[in-house]
Amino acid sequence: MDNYVRIFDTTLRDGEQSPGATMTSAEKLEVARALARMGVDVIEAGFPAASPDDLEAVRRIAAEVGNPGDGARPPIICGLARCSRGDIEKAWEGVRPASRPRIHTFIATSDIHLQYKLKMTRQQVVEKVVEMVGYARSLCPEVEFSPEDAGRSDPQFLYTVLEEAIRAGATTLNIPDTVGYTTPEEFGELIAGIRRNTPGIENCTISVHCHDDLGLATANTLAGIHAGARQAEVTINGIGERAGNTSLEEVVMALHTRRPKFDLATGIDTTQIMRLSRLVSNYTGIVVQPNKAIVGANAFAHEAGIHQDGMLKHQQTYEIMLPATVGVSQSRLVLGKHSGRHALKTRLQEMGLSLDEAALDLVFERFKALADKKKTIADADLEALVSTELYQPCEVYILDGLQVACGTMGMPTATVRLRGPEGLQVQAAVGTGPVDAAYKAVDAIVQAQNTLLEFSIHAVTEGIDALGEVTVRIEARDGQGTLDAQKETDQPRTFGGYGADTDIIVASVKAYLAALNKLLVATGLYGSIETAAVQTVAS
Ligand code: KIV
Ligand code: ZN
Repeated sequence: MDNYVRIFDTTLRDGEQSPGATMTSAEKLEVARALARMGVDVIEAGFPAASPDDLEAVRRIAAEVGNPGDGARPPIICGLARCSRGDIEKAWEGVRPASRPRIHTFIATSDIHLQYKLKMTRQQVVEKVVEMVGYARSLCPEVEFSPEDAGRSDPQFLYTVLEEAIRAGATTLNIPDTVGYTTPEEFGELIAGIRRNTPGIENCTISVHCHDDLGLATANTLAGIHAGARQAEVTINGIGERAGNTSLEEVVMALHTRRPKFDLATGIDTTQIMRLSRLVSNYTGIVVQPNKAIVGANAFAHEAGIHQDGMLKHQQTYEIMLPATVGVSQSRLVLGKHSGRHALKTRLQEMGLSLDEAALDLVFERFKALADKKKTIADADLEALVSTELYQPCEVYILDGLQVACGTMGMPTATVRLRGPEGLQVQAAVGTGPVDAAYKAVDAIVQAQNTLLEFSIHAVTEGIDALGEVTVRIEARDGQGTLDAQKETDQPRTFGGYGADTDIIVASVKAYLAALNKLLVATGLYGSIETAAVQTVAS
């Protein structure tokens, strides 16, 4: 058996299914580019049958990220499909432009799903698998098959279903613990049993796909790999349905840090992990918990005196990985107000950000403005600057001016000027604090019914002149931003927004506008508006 574990990233599919993680197609494209740069083997770009937007996003990713045009081996671009002709055709339409396409089709195999959800017999499920895997294979050279809820399925029935899927043409067999029910021992034994009892399995890749309902997703994934799986399905920051999926950073860093134990490799450039984590968090508005393994703000922080003393004596006393290995900046090179365009370009390239000339001009202009207010500019500042200036894909309303009055002596008041479809508009409002006042003034102009679900603010770096980063999540109200499919399922629609500035009220308004712009685009009234800058960021 080879010692290479393929990393299958499903941030754009299972990850995007998590409440509030909606991304625009421009954001998905940007995430896909970053995943490809980081070296993931397979990108599950979406569920094309879910909506025309999903199909379009998959197609764009397949066409652009699936064909890099620089001689580099592109990642496989995969689209999900239920075991139905319609879904499989849509998935094929989506992934077809990629030079390495894959269709991923699934059907449940646990008795509980058969009885209550599918209302099908085991025999009918087997017949469906044979027909649909065969159909997918007639279209696409690579077909992945998943028996949904495998973790709660009868292993004997699983062996039969998998054997038939292999016969029908499946090239990868993915074993999902859909509801995060199994323990590592059980899941490892499930994979070992499949290897022992499924004829033809030796010619296929076994994949594992675990959910985190009991906090065991990473442990189960590692147990599956130990038992012979050679593909791990993961998401950035572990986002996904309910408690989420196995997180990419945890699996990759476990294999990397404990290499002597596992003797297994991945193709991931680990130094890009932190950047991806921030990008996905900014786009989805899902904040990473501070104590999250690998990418949490405290993952490399040492507070206790004994720990600090140990660290000063030797880094390995309390750190099993170097922060730089996952791209946590040690501020090796700090730029400042005297740094030129070339130094900025070089630093951005070292950070894995290749901008074309127009995008670089824009970032350089903002960099100079920031350097006037902040003495030293660290990597984290640059990342925040690029995120807030370049990666805000839909700009219906742009902040043109803001003035606030607040403190203990009067009523917090904000005056906001926005540039939007009706030109420049100004509104003033009073609130419980300056952010509340500013948001009320924005609401008076934009008039998009919504509820603020989450607001979080933190400093990008240390120091009184630090950039403030704000992440918000809003929920559309009264049908605003509701797509037809969501009207049917009655699902509320949530949108994330991100903003950074040395002035935290400005950052707050930028974040709110980013989320509102997404909501407005989702209404269909404003089309799919993207900034020119996004299109000019080279892949
Ligand atoms: O969790 C699950 O079962 C899935 C399948 C579609 C693979 O996401
Ligand atoms: Zn899943």
